[in-house]
Amino acid sequence: MTTNTNGRCHGKLALVTGGAQGLGRAHCIRLAQEGARVLVTDINADGASDTADIVNAEMGAGTAYSIRHDVTDPQSWEAAVDAARENIGGLNVLVNNAGIGVPGNIEDCDFGDWQRCFSINVDSIFHGCQKALPLMREHAPGSIVNISSIAGLIASDTMPAYNASKASVWMLSKSIALHCAKKNMQIRCNSVHPTFVDTPILDGTARSAQLDKDVLLEKLARQIPLKFVGEPNDIANAVVYLASDESRFMTGAEMKLDGGISAM
Ligand SMILES: NC(=O)c1ccc[n+]([C@@H]2O[C@H](COP(=O)([O-])OP(=O)(O)OC[C@H]3O[C@@H](n4cnc5c(N)ncnc54)[C@H](O)[C@@H]3O)[C@@H](O)[C@H]2O)c1
Repeated sequence: MTTNTNGRCHGKLALVTGGAQGLGRAHCIRLAQEGARVLVTDINADGASDTADIVNAEMGAGTAYSIRHDVTDPQSWEAAVDAARENIGGLNVLVNNAGIGVPGNIEDCDFGDWQRCFSINVDSIFHGCQKALPLMREHAPGSIVNISSIAGLIASDTMPAYNASKASVWMLSKSIALHCAKKNMQIRCNSVHPTFVDTPILDGTARSAQLDKDVLLEKLARQIPLKFVGEPNDIANAVVYLASDESRFMTGAEMKLDGGISAM
């Protein structure tokens, strides 16, 4: 896939959670390619550091920094906001990307897994926005991009925890958007709803389904009207748009990147 590098995010100061791999790594690289400085955060500190190294090798030293960050922990969020202030000069783009799926239908889903899913997928955004908004206001205009899922809009019998957590992200994003608008903060908030994208998260899906990853990808592609599974940059390019001032009239909205699934 070709990428544009037109400085669309020039001057943006971005914190991306779950940046060690998969979609998070792609968001970091694309935002930096468009001129942003990036703080890569993840509970996997080595992976976050590798992402920062990749960005700095392409865009120059000092473009990206990384820290270990547990998005479920308010104190870890305070440290992440401090790191943004100290290492990238502030904050005006927050990409709440870290997320997990957990197995089980409503009868066999473990309650601990349910709580972990909500903690990482939803509590993270509550804590993150509470801790980040004061600094983001200092560097407005700003944008909060919450990575939900098409599974937040369309249910499946096999993933009640993931469905419910991602639906929460969808509605939470709207409430945050309206609050920021009412307070004239010049901070927007939108949610992104991808369908299947080829990242390590699908390794777990393949294991649960007892399928080779290639077989799983073919099976998933057959469910998508456009007949292919997404690449990380299909989502990262949307994050660039939402982070940039190109989307300045868009807040409280959901962007569906689903190959047509929700049109059926
Ligand atoms: N890949 C897909 O098919 C797909 C589709 C729709 C939505 N999404 C969503 O996109 C986001 C990224 O997914 P991905 O496919 O890149 O997943 P991934 O599993 O490849 O990456 C998730 C990252 O989150 C990090 N993480 C997990 N718990 C954390 C915590 N407590 N604190 C900080 N970081 C933590 C992991 O270390 C990992 O680096 C998730 O929110 C996911 O639900 C993915």
